Amino acid sequence: MQRFEDKVVLITGAASGIGEATALRLAAEGATLALSDLNSEGLAETVEACTDLGAVVSSEVVNVADEPSVVAMVKGAVEHHGRLDVVVNVAGILQFGHTHETSLADFQRIIGVNLTGTFLVCREAIPHLLDTGGNIVNTASTAALAGHPWTISYSASKGGVAALTQTIAVEYGKQGLRANAVAPGSILTPIQNEFQLPEGADAKLVHRIMALDEQRGPEVVASAIAFLGSEDAVHVNGTMLKVDGGTLA
Ligand SMILES: NC(=O)c1ccc[n+]([C@@H]2O[C@H](COP(=O)([O-])OP(=O)(O)OC[C@H]3O[C@@H](n4cnc5c(N)ncnc54)[C@H](O)[C@@H]3O)[C@@H](O)[C@H]2O)c1
Repeated sequence: MQRFEDKVVLITGAASGIGEATALRLAAEGATLALSDLNSEGLAETVEACTDLGAVVSSEVVNVADEPSVVAMVKGAVEHHGRLDVVVNVAGILQFGHTHETSLADFQRIIGVNLTGTFLVCREAIPHLLDTGGNIVNTASTAALAGHPWTISYSASKGGVAALTQTIAVEYGKQGLRANAVAPGSILTPIQNEFQLPEGADAKLVHRIMALDEQRGPEVVASAIAFLGSEDAVHVNGTMLKVDGGTLA
């Protein structure tokens, strides 16, 4: 399948996990890629792997929570490749803790990356996506769909991503721009290292929304992102596609 031939795709969080797997999947499907991440080493490895697959790739170390950096990233990607067809927001961070012990700084840090970062990239990309009839795929989480305890900042950020995605879908849909999100369950990537329940937490309350998940790797999310970003999903707009093995069915 070469669904992304002649398409330029910008991916954030491309150094690791779901972002890396998405870059590889889209490279294999013919995409030209503009990759970014905060982690320069991991980003360079993804660039090399995608180039080995025959993709044309540009890359930039970017903190998605930093407005000027995001503005420059999107502008640079369009200048470099001449157009922008698909934006995939994957960059994200996770932290566990009791809500009543969560500092404002931690709350704002997680919202800043997961929600504000997604907003900034979407905002900057929309004019270019309107030019190409392009689309956005954001990364929410099953934490946005059911009470996911001890992740107050993360859950709020992902609920925000879900709402933001639907807003864009309706606001720009008639102009030919689609916006969708994936909601992964528990996927085996490095972010799972943050899965440390605070003292006194009842693990069952978290596992109840993951229990059936078979703990697959990030490629299962990458294939869902590839579908949503492709013309195969031409009539799919404003949806949140759960990729959780049916846990929340
Ligand atoms: N793995 C899961 O179980 C799971 C479940 C639901 C949702 N998600 C979401 O999927 C996305 C990807 O997570 P993952 O599982 O691949 O984890 P990961 O840790 O492997 O990847 C996250 C990437 O985001 C990058 N990143 C973090 N902060 C950044 C910033 N400020 N600017 C730019 N890049 C930044 C990291 O360097 C890393 O490469 C996240 O948004 C996460 O919330 C993951």
